[in-house]
Amino acid sequence: MKDLRPIIWDDDKKELILIDQRKLPHKLEYFICKTYEDVAFAIKDMVVRGAPAIGISGAYGLALAEIKGDDIYKAYNILKNTRPTAVNLFWALDRCLEAYKKGKSILDEAKKIHEEDIETCRKIGMIGEKLIEDGDTILTHCNAGALACSAYGTALSVIRFAFYNGKKIRVIADETRPRLQGAKLTAFELSYEGIPVKVITDNTAGFLMQKGEIDKIIVGADRILADGTVYNKIGTYSLAVLAKYHNIPFYVAAPLSTFDLKSSEEDVIIEERSEDEVAYIDGVRIVPENVSCYNYAFDKTPPDLITAIITEKGIVKPKKDDILKLFR
Ligand code: MRU
Repeated sequence: MKDLRPIIWDDDKKELILIDQRKLPHKLEYFICKTYEDVAFAIKDMVVRGAPAIGISGAYGLALAEIKGDDIYKAYNILKNTRPTAVNLFWALDRCLEAYKKGKSILDEAKKIHEEDIETCRKIGMIGEKLIEDGDTILTHCNAGALACSAYGTALSVIRFAFYNGKKIRVIADETRPRLQGAKLTAFELSYEGIPVKVITDNTAGFLMQKGEIDKIIVGADRILADGTVYNKIGTYSLAVLAKYHNIPFYVAAPLSTFDLKSSEEDVIIEERSEDEVAYIDGVRIVPENVSCYNYAFDKTPPDLITAIITEKGIVKPKKDDILKLFR
């Protein structure tokens, strides 16, 4: 087992050290955050990405504001406005702000959130791996791995623990246009550990399902509503529809910090990123100058397309009663 840790807190220097995910897979470089503004930039520019990882980073960002004597409420708002969809960011910032209001150390709270996430991801893997059979080929989308969390990942933790337990599995990673988290990050972190992985273009997924080559699909989530509606990387919904048509189990792996029991669909903002991410490949424009592009970063998958949700507290059906029980 090779330990990939995308977020490191340097307690001596009081700095947040992040793997610079914009540089992977070619360079394993680190991005140092000395201020909360550095952290806000890192989240916005996707130096760090993935729902749990931006939550943990946001928490350390608020801790940096505390350490530097900055206005905590201003820092909170700036960090909160970096990315709108993943609820883990708001959950972690709110937890830190609550601690601050009670006179507690924000840094201690951030460290707690970070440590808890490692254990949570480990549990998701140990619980979820029971769903995986020897010989399975598993399709995943985007990167719901160690790089998206503190360690192990969510969807990739399930895959990792199946592999650690000796199951012979194969992973198919969607490249995940336009930021290519599947091709760049999932392929990097699985091959780094020697887990067999093959990358496909996003539009190959249906053909592989039709050929009978996919046994299971496991993805992560950025937000899950009380009724089991899942928000995740754009393209997740298309996969879920295809999975239903082909009778392939479709699993979502996520920690309880990804559940948003208060919001309804109207409250959720789907992030729209720069059109340039779609229009340009490697700095070269591929779309005619006079044509604009859609660049939605996430989509919405209704509960009836989801087989089950794997959490650190167990595996549940995407149904309100079952989900609420997780929080009792
Ligand atoms: O835009 P990103 O790379 O932050 O999107 C990440 C995803 O959609 C992941 O699937 C999700 O955050 C789950 S991470 C365990």
